[in-house]
Amino acid sequence: MNNKPISRPGHVALRVLDLDESIHHYVDVLGLIETGRDSQGRVYLKAWDEHDHHCLILREADSPGMDYMAFKVVSESELKRLAQAIEDYGISTEWIKAGESLATGERVRFTAPTGHVFELYAHKDIYGNGMPTTNPGIQAQNLKGIHPSRFDHCALMGNGVEESYRLFKDVLGFDLTEQVVDGENMMAAFMSCSNKPHDVAFIFAEEKGKFHHMSFFVDSWAQVLAAADIIANHDVSHEVGPTRHGITRGETMYFFDPSGNRNEVFSGGYIWYSDRPTLTWTTDELPRAIFFTERKLSETFFKVMT
Ligand code: FE2
Repeated sequence: MNNKPISRPGHVALRVLDLDESIHHYVDVLGLIETGRDSQGRVYLKAWDEHDHHCLILREADSPGMDYMAFKVVSESELKRLAQAIEDYGISTEWIKAGESLATGERVRFTAPTGHVFELYAHKDIYGNGMPTTNPGIQAQNLKGIHPSRFDHCALMGNGVEESYRLFKDVLGFDLTEQVVDGENMMAAFMSCSNKPHDVAFIFAEEKGKFHHMSFFVDSWAQVLAAADIIANHDVSHEVGPTRHGITRGETMYFFDPSGNRNEVFSGGYIWYSDRPTLTWTTDELPRAIFFTERKLSETFFKVMT
């Protein structure tokens, strides 16, 4: 589909157990930039090369996990059209007024068949990337930690993968770039609203609404390797990598924030065009699809979710 109505993943709202510990992780280790705090105590963060106000909202809570993932829609009129289209598809929507979260216009909220809450919005204030837009230079100054350039995608687990895939394809205009199938059953759907190999992935789990990971883009394989040194220096809980994915061909490493929410740093991958064929992996090749180098899954990878 050309002229896609959704331009990109915008932000994720995460629950964390201890706000100060989490800010240390996301600011000092990951290298995000704090851009605001609101009257509810929520903390707003962005990756350095993003211009919009935030890509991550942290909220202290009794259990970790994702409150919602938000996508930026290309215009206010498309936002209204999509809200109606979601209703017409049989899924109820709720409008949240502009300003409920910092720097963000009105949002429409809905729950996908896999149990994940999503929001769409058309406006977020520009914060800037630390460089002028005329004669800008190539990197902002005084960056900390891993300093990914942007938020890339989320992987979300639950049952109802095929139903969420259909909603995102038929109503929201996403493409299916890759899938994992077990016979006739769709076990995972990798979906793009852009030129990236995925903007969101749905992966089968018995329980609905589980958060697998939020991924941050770094510019090179070398920066994934450097990220491994940084998390080791900070004694961050490490899971897998640096290694290579079969699906997306991305270079990757997984680790956990202090609340147990999984983070990924990701580099590479191919450019997606909507006329590329969908790639299909079969479950007997799942280890190679996920970790191409090792060709085996880690003990925790599909067991630990928040
Ligand atoms: Fe990922």
